[in-house]
Amino acid sequence: MENAKNTNIAIEIKNIDRVFPLAGGGSFQALKNINAKVPEGMLTILKGRSGSGKTTLMNIVGALDVPTAGSIIVGGRDIYKMSEKQRENLRRREFGFVFQAVSLIPTMNAYQNVEFSMRMAGITEGRKRRVEECLRMVGLGNRMHHMPSEMSGGEQQRVAIARAIAHSPRIILADEPTAELDSAMAAEVTKLFQEMTKREKVTIIMTTHDVGLQDAGEMVIELENGQQVFQE
Ligand SMILES: Nc1ncnc2c1ncn2[C@@H]1O[C@H](COP(=O)(O)OP(=O)(O)O)[C@@H](O)[C@H]1O
Ligand SMILES: [Mg+2]
Repeated sequence: MENAKNTNIAIEIKNIDRVFPLAGGGSFQALKNINAKVPEGMLTILKGRSGSGKTTLMNIVGALDVPTAGSIIVGGRDIYKMSEKQRENLRRREFGFVFQAVSLIPTMNAYQNVEFSMRMAGITEGRKRRVEECLRMVGLGNRMHHMPSEMSGGEQQRVAIARAIAHSPRIILADEPTAELDSAMAAEVTKLFQEMTKREKVTIIMTTHDVGLQDAGEMVIELENGQQVFQE
C-alpha cells in the first residue's frame, strides 16, 4: 500500500504503546510500538481479530484515551500535548465518531439526532440544509422524521453516519460500524464510507474483523496481538 506517497498525511501514529494496569496487580500490553501514516481523504481499514487492539488504538487516535508512550499527530499537533479543553474541541469539531452499537438519542428523531451533533460542534448557521443533505447522502431522505425505534438497525447506523459527518469533521473514526449488520448492509455501509471520502474529502478510519471488508480501504493497517502486521 505505497500509494500514500503523493498524498498528505491526516494522522501520524508514532510509536504507540498502551499498557493497561490490571485490577489484581500486574499489567497487560494491548499495543506495542504502532506506527502508521493515515493518508488524507481516503478510507483506511484497521483490521485484525477480536482482541487484537483495534478499539484501543481507535480510542487513542480519537483522543478518548491516553497512550502509555508515543504520539498522535493531527494537523501538525501532538494531540496528547494539548490541554484537555483543546482535546475536547478536537473531538467535537474535527472528529466524527461511529460506534459498533448504534448510539442515537432514542427520544430524538433522525433529523434531530443529526442536528444535535452540529450544535455540539458550535455550528449555528445552515444547519437545516446540511442535516437534510447528510440524511439524503446516506439514503434516508424519506426517513428524516422517524424515531430510532421506527428504523432498522442498518437505517439507524446510517443516521449515526450522517451524524458523524454533518459538522464536516476532518476525520471520521468508525469502530466496527458494520459488526451488527448483515453482510449486504455491511458492504453498503463500507461503500458509503468510500463515497464519503471522495464527496466530503474526509479521512475515514474504519475497524473491522470481517475478512470480507478488509480490502475495501485504500490503505490497510493490520494488528495481531497488539502488534502491527506489515503488508508484504
Ligand atoms: N481497560 C482495559 N484493561 C485491561 N485490558 C484491556 C482493557 N481494554 C482492552 N483490554 C485488552 O486489550 C486487548 C485489545 O482489546 P481491544 O482493543 O478492545 O481489541 P479489539 O477492538 O481488536 O477487539 C484485549 O486483550 C483486551 O482484553
Ligand atoms: Mg473492538
